[in-house]
Amino acid sequence: MVGVFFLQRSFHRATPSLSGANGYGNPLLSYASNWSLWAFYLSSVIRWLSCGTLSVPDQTPDNSAVWLVSTSETSDVYRREHRKNKFSTTSDIRMYRAIVQRGYKAEDPESTLEVVDKPIPSASPGHVVVHITLRPVNPYDLKLVRLGLVAGKHSFPVTVGSEGFGIVHSVGEGVTTVKPGQRVIPMTMVAMEEGNGSWQEYVSLKEEMVLPVPDTITDEAAAQFVVNPWTVIGLLRDIGVPKGEYLLQTAAGSVLGRQIIQLAKHKGIKTINLVRRPEQKEELKALGADEVICYTSEDVVSRVKEITGNKLAYGALDCVGGDVTKLVAASVRGGGHVFVYGSLASRDLIVSIPDVLRGVTVRGWSLLVEWVLPEKRKIYSQETLEYMESKVIQPLAGEKFDLAQFKEAIKKSEEVGRGGKVLLVS
Ligand SMILES: NC(=O)c1ccc[n+]([C@@H]2O[C@H](COP(=O)([O-])OP(=O)(O)OC[C@H]3O[C@@H](n4cnc5c(N)ncnc54)[C@H](OP(=O)(O)O)[C@@H]3O)[C@@H](O)[C@H]2O)c1
Repeated sequence: MVGVFFLQRSFHRATPSLSGANGYGNPLLSYASNWSLWAFYLSSVIRWLSCGTLSVPDQTPDNSAVWLVSTSETSDVYRREHRKNKFSTTSDIRMYRAIVQRGYKAEDPESTLEVVDKPIPSASPGHVVVHITLRPVNPYDLKLVRLGLVAGKHSFPVTVGSEGFGIVHSVGEGVTTVKPGQRVIPMTMVAMEEGNGSWQEYVSLKEEMVLPVPDTITDEAAAQFVVNPWTVIGLLRDIGVPKGEYLLQTAAGSVLGRQIIQLAKHKGIKTINLVRRPEQKEELKALGADEVICYTSEDVVSRVKEITGNKLAYGALDCVGGDVTKLVAASVRGGGHVFVYGSLASRDLIVSIPDVLRGVTVRGWSLLVEWVLPEKRKIYSQETLEYMESKVIQPLAGEKFDLAQFKEAIKKSEEVGRGGKVLLVS
């Protein structure tokens, strides 16, 4: 018992290096300033516990090696993992917080999420360790948790989180593009699919997955650099609506929908925007929307005919699904395309057969297909940087919650009329 007590005290969270950091430091740390005394206690106790065979390395080579439940279980789990290694008396294990999904429970998937402590990874050659300070709660992250998608591919525990913003903590041998202390975007979307996403304080990524951020881009915008802007760029590229023609979109008040309005305007494409609440109309018009229709109170097809002089919309983007897709398909010209890229209201969609017979096609669009390709990532990153620096695309930030308040953050992220993107802070 005495040994467990002392060993536990050698674990603590990393000292926050940024303003606004969490202040979660171990209160007992203050007692640890006299390290020679601590080293003496530790060496005696650990030697007694492990007969000189216990290893306590400073850092783990990657994020997956060890994960620990905080407080009392910590030292036991850690000791089990490392019993066979060499012993070091003066090690100072720097810990950080991670939200992990422990398992999958179909009836209540979020109950399997919890905050645990993990040792900060060390930067192996060609890798960068990023201290993540902001990450959004995206619908995609929630979908992964709720459908158990990441866990379906990898063993538990897993950490989701498709994007974020942070500061370089350390770099491995051979890294030349970033240095410690630099503001960066950790592109965690690929790592997330391996269970190592941004809903944690530290992550180790390959150098090519870490993008430097210019000072012209705020932390909050940088934290939303990938998922929505890249999708907006890809959707507008592929739907191919010519300058001067109308593009129709649903959930136009979403963070992504607002960026569609911004980029379409920049490209000279006119937008017809569907929302479910009439109070969003003026706000979206002020943002650059040409037309806004509240589909819960207006006849969408008649309004679209009126706006377009009976030509209907050239193409459409839908992330709502269900009956709304039926309205969307009926509002698109014969031979036109509807890209379905989300399922906010329903995972099924309804399309009227007469619209299909008019040659309207409904197909899916997903960024997942492209973000695994390095050459595509490079193009999306460059374009996003240009659009954000020139303020063409301006991600909207919403309420902030500490990482440990993830349950409240998830709830807030799905509130009707929530506004900007909910961010988890650490
Ligand atoms: N396919 C891809 O590669 C890809 C990539 C990125 C995003 N997406 C999808 O794009 C969509 C928007 O993403 P986001 O990050 O912008 O989301 P977000 O900021 O969380 O926005 C949610 C918006 O959706 C509206 N909404 C929520 N539930 C709705 C429902 N049942 N019916 C109608 N509207 C509803 C809300 O309207 P109120 O304002 O009225 O509350 C809000 O404006 C999501 O479906 C996301 O999964 C897909």
